[in-house]
Amino acid sequence: MASAAWGRIAPKLEATGRRVASLEWEPERRNSFVPYTAERDTAYVDLDGRRLLMMSGYSYLGLAGDERVVAAAQAAAARYGTGNHGVRALAGSIPLHEELEAEVATVAEREAAIVFGSGYAANVGTIGALVGPGDTVFVDKYAHASIVDGCRLSGATVVRFRHNDTDHLARRMEAAAPGGVRLVIVDSVYSMDGDIAPLPRLREVCDAHEALLMTDEAHALGVIGRTGLGVEEHFERRVRVDVKLGTLSKAIPSMGGWVAGSAELIGHLRYAARPFLFSAALAPASAGAALEALRVLRAEPERVTRIQGYGTRFRELVSAGGMRTGDSETAVVPLIAGSDESAYDLATTARRLGVIGLPVVTPAVPRDLARLRIAVTARHTDADVELAAEAFLKAAGECGLLAG
Ligand SMILES: Cc1ncc(COP(=O)(O)O)c(C=O)c1O
Repeated sequence: MASAAWGRIAPKLEATGRRVASLEWEPERRNSFVPYTAERDTAYVDLDGRRLLMMSGYSYLGLAGDERVVAAAQAAAARYGTGNHGVRALAGSIPLHEELEAEVATVAEREAAIVFGSGYAANVGTIGALVGPGDTVFVDKYAHASIVDGCRLSGATVVRFRHNDTDHLARRMEAAAPGGVRLVIVDSVYSMDGDIAPLPRLREVCDAHEALLMTDEAHALGVIGRTGLGVEEHFERRVRVDVKLGTLSKAIPSMGGWVAGSAELIGHLRYAARPFLFSAALAPASAGAALEALRVLRAEPERVTRIQGYGTRFRELVSAGGMRTGDSETAVVPLIAGSDESAYDLATTARRLGVIGLPVVTPAVPRDLARLRIAVTARHTDADVELAAEAFLKAAGECGLLAG
């Protein structure tokens, strides 16, 4: 870093390096940016010649590598090429984008949908198109970073409420300045905790305070609800949200983000959501893969039943062995270790025993609640789930993390 200008920024760069080194001080402790090679059709990965059971993936339905999904991506690339060379509003639209949006609308049980380049872009673009200065957004304390960033960029007043605490939300709404649009935003399933937003009560509070309700279904689609259709189906369709958003990068093994709602809302987003209007369209292969995976989700709801059963079984096994799993009630199960270092110790020991559980540390989770974020998928078997629980308990015992 020769120049004086770089000298000014050097402390920031060095701090990042020190932070990484404080947790990953030797190759065995490396847990970030590890290039695993996934085995097809199993939940195992290869790393440095070892076969390891992956328990921290996001492909909940086990469709990453599914031959129908891969074939659809190949066919889309062969038909439409590898890129769209522009934004949808100008030169970048292909029929596949419209087919995908129609399928998303069906799965989301809404009139229309719009697809963005990522879930992050969908949150930032949607929030910015709905609220601005003079409006107020009320956001759960554990909401995803893309929601928080969208709120900040929008220029609206941002009010945080305690995680899943609807009484606190109600008090915050009573105390907020009147006037303007009021928008409440929550994750349907919290990505690091695996718990579910209390939708019926949120709806009541929103109605009482004339607020719109928006949910992020990133970890709900394909995961909760009897057939995997998300948080509304989980609550037996007793209540509806106003703005439904999700990603195509978790249970749906592709790239992209979506919003579903009335034709009027989607029409507005097509012209007002800046990451849609000023960023290139989804690549054909990604659109083709997502479309096929959504069709598989609808055709094979037994995948959803399977991961719901695995989630329950895994939680029972590790809790019985003395591990803390927070309020998880889905396929996402945190194994709470405590300090950042403890989470790394646990991950490193578990990997030595043949199982991967990736650590999530501050600032992604609150201090002293660092954890391994475990997710069961439809690629796992009953035997995988039992083997993983046994290995994590053994590792936790070795690390001195078990109660009693
Ligand atoms: C709740 C939630 N919303 C949005 C996103 C962003 O999605 P994408 O990776 O498609 O940008 C994520 C990704 O981790 C997420 O967990």
